[in-house]
Amino acid sequence: MELGVAAGGSSVLMLNALKDFSAARLYSHDYCLGYYRNPKLKSGYFVDQYAELKKQWTLYTGGLVCRFLDQIGGDIDFCLIDTMHLNPGEILDFLMILPYLKNGAMVVFHDINMHASANLRLWWRITNNTLLSAISGKKFIPGGFFQGNKELAQFPNIGAVEISANTHENLFEIFNLLTIYWPYLPSKIDEAEIYVHFRKYYAEFYLSYLQTVFTYHREVARKGRETLAYRIAEKLRVM
Ligand SMILES: C[S@@+](CC[C@H](N)C(=O)[O-])C[C@H]1O[C@@H](n2cnc3c(N)ncnc32)[C@H](O)[C@@H]1O
Repeated sequence: MELGVAAGGSSVLMLNALKDFSAARLYSHDYCLGYYRNPKLKSGYFVDQYAELKKQWTLYTGGLVCRFLDQIGGDIDFCLIDTMHLNPGEILDFLMILPYLKNGAMVVFHDINMHASANLRLWWRITNNTLLSAISGKKFIPGGFFQGNKELAQFPNIGAVEISANTHENLFEIFNLLTIYWPYLPSKIDEAEIYVHFRKYYAEFYLSYLQTVFTYHREVARKGRETLAYRIAEKLRVM
């Protein structure tokens, strides 16, 4: 499984790795129908160039992955998560897919060092780093990451966690990340779909936690729009 397809570069790489395993299949999902950098092209359009690889591929686009998970089914053994890199993005994506992962599944997160990368250091892009840390399970990161840049230490930009029974028992650490600043708000439709999905798999405590964080962040955003800084920024944007 893959969440976040864009042009389909990572899909092609994974399909190429799967081609020797005839029973294996890659399910890819993207929120957007069109490639986010050029919506005239479809999400995943790269894969059209590889007819042989495409035979082992199913693509779902349009809306959150929870819309499609019952069609895809459980026992997923591998998942690359590479979506928003902003809260609540991957936190909600991971919680959506967790009930469909088998024990022993590997979940790979891309861009785990965006907040601390040599050139960008976008402090609010902490989602994949904090999420990988919060998920209970054995972690895998590439070695040798302190080399390569003489001026600034380099942290790994990709990492994985192995899902186990323990992961399902330590959910507070993950839900609690949802209290940290959301640079964007999911739509009301997405929010409603998330509740319906989570109600099937998570205890009442987490459902009310989720409702509270949505209310909190919508209120913070509304209040933020009333601040002088926001009004000045809006005025500059219009001008
Ligand atoms: C960084 S790109 C993916 C790059 C791709 N994995 C690769 O390496 O070639 C992020 C993609 O995630 C998609 N996206 C954003 N939020 C999403 C979500 N909640 N679920 C699925 N896809 C999402 C965007 O539309 C975009 O295409």
